[in-house]
Amino acid sequence: MFFDIKRIITIKRKDLYSSMSFIYFLHKMNTKIFNKNQLEAAAKLIQRGELVVFPTETVYGLGADALNKKAILKVYQAKNRPQDNPLIVHVNSFEQAESVCFITDDAKKLMDKFWPGPLAIILFKKDIIPHEATAGLDTVAVRMPNNDVALEFIKLANTPIAAPSANISGRPSPTNFKHVFADLNGRVAGIIEFDESEIGIESSVVDLTVEDPILLRPGGISLEDIQIILPNARLFNHSEITTKSPGMKYTHYSPNARIILFEDSAKDKIGEFEKNLKSKGHKVKILLLENSLECSRNLFKSFRDIDDEKYDYILLNSVPESGIGLGIMNRVRKAASEIIK
Ligand code: TXA
Ligand code: MG
Repeated sequence: MFFDIKRIITIKRKDLYSSMSFIYFLHKMNTKIFNKNQLEAAAKLIQRGELVVFPTETVYGLGADALNKKAILKVYQAKNRPQDNPLIVHVNSFEQAESVCFITDDAKKLMDKFWPGPLAIILFKKDIIPHEATAGLDTVAVRMPNNDVALEFIKLANTPIAAPSANISGRPSPTNFKHVFADLNGRVAGIIEFDESEIGIESSVVDLTVEDPILLRPGGISLEDIQIILPNARLFNHSEITTKSPGMKYTHYSPNARIILFEDSAKDKIGEFEKNLKSKGHKVKILLLENSLECSRNLFKSFRDIDDEKYDYILLNSVPESGIGLGIMNRVRKAASEIIK
């Protein structure tokens, strides 16, 4: 057998880097599970600079004290998150929002209309928020979640809470306790166990630090709804995604199965593909999507369930890109390995 020594060394070094945080977690920590009546104890962990997963109406969040640099660095380690991907800061009051960023008139209008709710607003940050939380940016995304447990938890912690979705990077965001536990047990100090997330995809992210508001990530608050308040708001274009929101360039939301998305023009081909793949011995699942809240609620859950059942392929149809449909299609396009037109 022929070995390319140089290549082996290169691979080994790469593996070593990518597994450094994994080695850190070989020594698993004891993760405490809290219920909604034990929020005080969970909040104490945040005050001590530890990580606690909490429920929100969109997906579960991996929380840390947003004012504590060391705690924030733990977030990146726990979920293997690239350092250039900024975090959303969660607040439970307008006063708390005001303590972390400069609130503009447009921001105030959006907050009055949509908070608490699935809308993160990017504004210029105040010095109190460390650059560790914003991946070096002078802007910060703020959001007031519409979930009583989350709001009470932030109140008890008595600090804004920085939180990305509580999944290992590259996995679908978790919408229930089981999925959080599967990804983060042993990697965080605590998890608050609560109901399934109602919306199921992450919040809409709107950038108000530019001339015309840009929707960088569509979610539970639709572009149409935002445009009623701010008529000049528009959806991002591709180049803005890499420059304005560093984290969004990463392939997210990927289950292990290969996802094939069929545009509306190709929807008649789904049956043919299914037959063909099955004839080659592949395990194939067809997921019928629709433009509804029920569909967004179940999307990531379906991806994880399908992985548990070891399917090789997921075949998906497209839905109209209006309302929540824009958010659903955004996630599905990112997860797809192939798009048939
Ligand atoms: O629904 C949600 O937003 C959930 C729950 C836990 O609140 N959180 C969430 O966080 O989805 P995460 O980190 O998975 O996604 C945050 C997104 C990333 O794509 C990031 O790049 C973007 O928001 N983001 C955060 N701060 C930003 C900033 N200052 N400028 C541009 N993009 C920002
Ligand atoms: Mg995420």
